[in-house]
Amino acid sequence: MSENRPILTTRQGHPVRDNQSTRTVGERGPATLENYQFIEKITHFDRERIPERVVHARGAGAHGWFEAYGKIGDEPASKYTRARVLNETGVKTPMFVRFSTVAGAKESPETERDPRGFAVKFKTVEGNWDLVGNNLKVFFIRDAIKFPDMIHAFKPDPVTNRQEAWRFFDFVAQHPEAIHMVTWLKSPWGIPANYREMEGSGVNTYKLVNDKGEAVLCKFHWQPKQGVRNLTSAQASEIQAKDVGHATRDLYDNISAGNFPEWEFCVQIMPDGPNDHLSFDPLDDTKRWPEDQFPLLPVGRMVLDRVPDNFFAEVEQSAFGTGVLVDGIDFSDDKMLQGRTLSYSDTQRYRVGANYLQLPINAPQPGVKVYSNQRDGQMTYGVDGTGQNRHINYEPSTLGEGLAEAPKKTEYHQPVEGRLGRYQTSRTEDDYAQAGHRYRTFEDWEREDLIANLVADMKQCPEPIQLRMVWHFWHADEDYGRRVAEGAGIDLEKAKALPPLPGRAAPHKRLQAETYTE
Ligand code: HEM
Repeated sequence: MSENRPILTTRQGHPVRDNQSTRTVGERGPATLENYQFIEKITHFDRERIPERVVHARGAGAHGWFEAYGKIGDEPASKYTRARVLNETGVKTPMFVRFSTVAGAKESPETERDPRGFAVKFKTVEGNWDLVGNNLKVFFIRDAIKFPDMIHAFKPDPVTNRQEAWRFFDFVAQHPEAIHMVTWLKSPWGIPANYREMEGSGVNTYKLVNDKGEAVLCKFHWQPKQGVRNLTSAQASEIQAKDVGHATRDLYDNISAGNFPEWEFCVQIMPDGPNDHLSFDPLDDTKRWPEDQFPLLPVGRMVLDRVPDNFFAEVEQSAFGTGVLVDGIDFSDDKMLQGRTLSYSDTQRYRVGANYLQLPINAPQPGVKVYSNQRDGQMTYGVDGTGQNRHINYEPSTLGEGLAEAPKKTEYHQPVEGRLGRYQTSRTEDDYAQAGHRYRTFEDWEREDLIANLVADMKQCPEPIQLRMVWHFWHADEDYGRRVAEGAGIDLEKAKALPPLPGRAAPHKRLQAETYTE
């Protein structure tokens, strides 16, 4: 035993001379109320947990860095964006990344069929930029108002506390736009082998803005240098029988052994505007931008080279949000992105506390000084920078003191016009085209696994859900619908005879499915 071990203390700094026995009156007597050391220890323990994330509760994190190539395609990156993190070469921007599953609780198995979260915090010289993405490049829904219903259907039943396939498909059956994502999710792509060998994507559409205030629409993607590896359900079950945390283990073991995972950061860009010539809406996150028309342009690389020192302080308390952008990267009118942007900081003020941005894991890099007049609240750790006169915690000041606004930059002024209302996108034909294309372009074993998984799920669903799901699969691709129906013993003719969903356009332009490329 080491002679020089630090002495155990209370959190008030008092030495603890006996950590084995509660103070009692006599050997068998009652405990006393002034037993401060005991009370502090137990009551702090009682508060060790904070609410788990309402989604993406199970996760693992790692630190690393990002390096920009300074180019977008063959052009200097500055042609499209004034964000220094993408323009300046030779700079290593510190990063923190949290990978996760979505529907499971904090200690749920990492082998579950579920999208994987891919949340990235760039601690840039211009402040933080968070890109809160997933491994799959599309999502189930395209309007944020649907998110709570969707998550309720995917999470456990409120009565039995069990996740049920019928509840998942009951929701999905009402949403043709979800069929594309479901086709990915129920294939082996729904169970990445681990967090290192998977892609990442911002999923939602953003804008890049340059010095002249000109903007393009853009999507962000992470391509793993390790390659992509997925699991079938059978392979996943085998791993799960031995280890419910295999992906966390894989990430920590590889980084600790010096085998640092690396991803190339890519963008897809297109002019801003309605882009009416496209069969899909580029602001609809249930669609991919076909890569033959909008190639993935490498803009930099990320390397993860350090595991957290403490899971709770860094991974559990980390807070990512889609509102956290740097100058030169902007929001698009993607409705999901706009809804998400309210949700993240709102939940973090509840989950971690009003001052979650003072925690080292969430604060900007030390080189970036935080000067704001937002103050106080529970657990205030320090006061933000105050300028030369600490009495003036407001702005503007007639005395010309306190904090001053930053110099203006040329802003991108997007023209907006329209009638206030509740709308669905009118470009719905690709709800089926991209799903059908995906079905046809899977490798044989992936298609087999997709059908087997869907057949197993359909067998757990009541007939109305079965028929509507087969109707959707059949509209995506006739073979797709037929094979699910045959496998699960569902009447294909009865499914095909269903009317369109109430309030939804009839599926049309299925011919386009044959000509669609990616
Ligand atoms: C986490 C809301 C859609 C990716 C969360 C959290 C909320 C939330 C409340 C918990 C955050 C926390 O406690 O720190 C929403 C809403 C959505 C939406 C309202 C739709 C309107 C999406 C989409 C993606 C996504 C489309 C993928 C692009 C993530 C990730 C996390 C997360 C990766 C975990 C972040 C972390 O590791 O801490 N979301 N989300 N979400 N969401 Fe979403």
